[in-house]
Amino acid sequence: MLILGIETSCDETAAAVVRDGADILSNVVVSQIDIFAEYGGVIPEVAARNHLEVMMPVVNKALSDAKCSWNDIDAIAVTYAPGLLGSLLIGTLTARTLAVLHNKPLYAVHHLKSHVYANWLCNAQVPEFPILALVISGGHTQILGMEAHNQFEIVGTTHDDAVGECFDKVAKILGLPYPGGPSIAKAALNGDANKYRFPHPKVDNLDFSFSGLKTAVLRTVQKEVGQPISFPSHKLKDLLNEQQVADFAASFQKTAVDIMVEKIKKAMELFPDTKSIVVAGGVSANEELRNTFMSKFEDSVFFPNKTLSGDNGAMVAAACYYEIKTGVRPVDPYRLNIYPRISIEE
Ligand code: KG4
Ligand code: ZN
Repeated sequence: MLILGIETSCDETAAAVVRDGADILSNVVVSQIDIFAEYGGVIPEVAARNHLEVMMPVVNKALSDAKCSWNDIDAIAVTYAPGLLGSLLIGTLTARTLAVLHNKPLYAVHHLKSHVYANWLCNAQVPEFPILALVISGGHTQILGMEAHNQFEIVGTTHDDAVGECFDKVAKILGLPYPGGPSIAKAALNGDANKYRFPHPKVDNLDFSFSGLKTAVLRTVQKEVGQPISFPSHKLKDLLNEQQVADFAASFQKTAVDIMVEKIKKAMELFPDTKSIVVAGGVSANEELRNTFMSKFEDSVFFPNKTLSGDNGAMVAAACYYEIKTGVRPVDPYRLNIYPRISIEE
């Protein structure tokens, strides 16, 4: 079964053709990172306009890279939630129109589900159920329990910032470019991860909180450069030297990773039957996180291929394949709505 996956939930315009939820025949991603690096973050209106401009060329390239025509495509899958309203609109309107035009069944896929299913793509070994999935992106930080394909239960979630958002905000404090995750990871390579100590949040059960960590970094930077709390945070970067930035980046990254390791260890105690831990979402590209998780959880931990950690169309097609296999029905292309905030359980 060949599925065309379309993804536009944030600032990547993406389309891919995937066979049987596993083999990627094409995977086209046009990122708007260069545009938003100038602004230091995503501007929703600008993102939507850019999606509109490149959406059809991206879909056409996905088909031509896969060497297929519309006749070969069995279904279209599209991200309908959650994400930026204008961005989701462009992807879903495109998918709805193509489904009507080419008479293909249309499937609406939740973005977090797609991130999880990136782990079934291109991996020689696939995760075994029951699974604990740690989904860590710019907008979400959740631990999901998965008893079987397409069965998700939220067992932990963040009370405030997502971990990716925390990387982005700390990068801003340190004067590192957007997106903050890769910038922090790069700066951390030359830093001492034990130079600064940041407290772990006191959050019960399997939930997270990352806004305190961001504030702890801010206060420590203010102290380090001898400025009062009222000193504007965006000016702090001018007072830091390269080594200080590297040490802050490394110390922050280590704390964030340690917090996630701690929660997954706790989750394993609460769900002792767990066979695999699956890590997914943009932050799963982080090398320090990968190395630490692999040393702690060894063969039971799975990561997507690094190129599939961020937003892409292949993971949407993979998730759709397992939806179809578990009996999910196509949606009406004339009626598909978007939901910027809906949970994976709804
Ligand atoms: O999944 P994603 O591409 O988009 C959302 O669904 O949000 O995740 C984007 C997030 C951003 O916050 C970005 O800074 C973070 O993933 N990220 C990373 C790395 N690469 C991307 N965070 C830490 N280390 C990285 N190497
Ligand atoms: Zn994402």
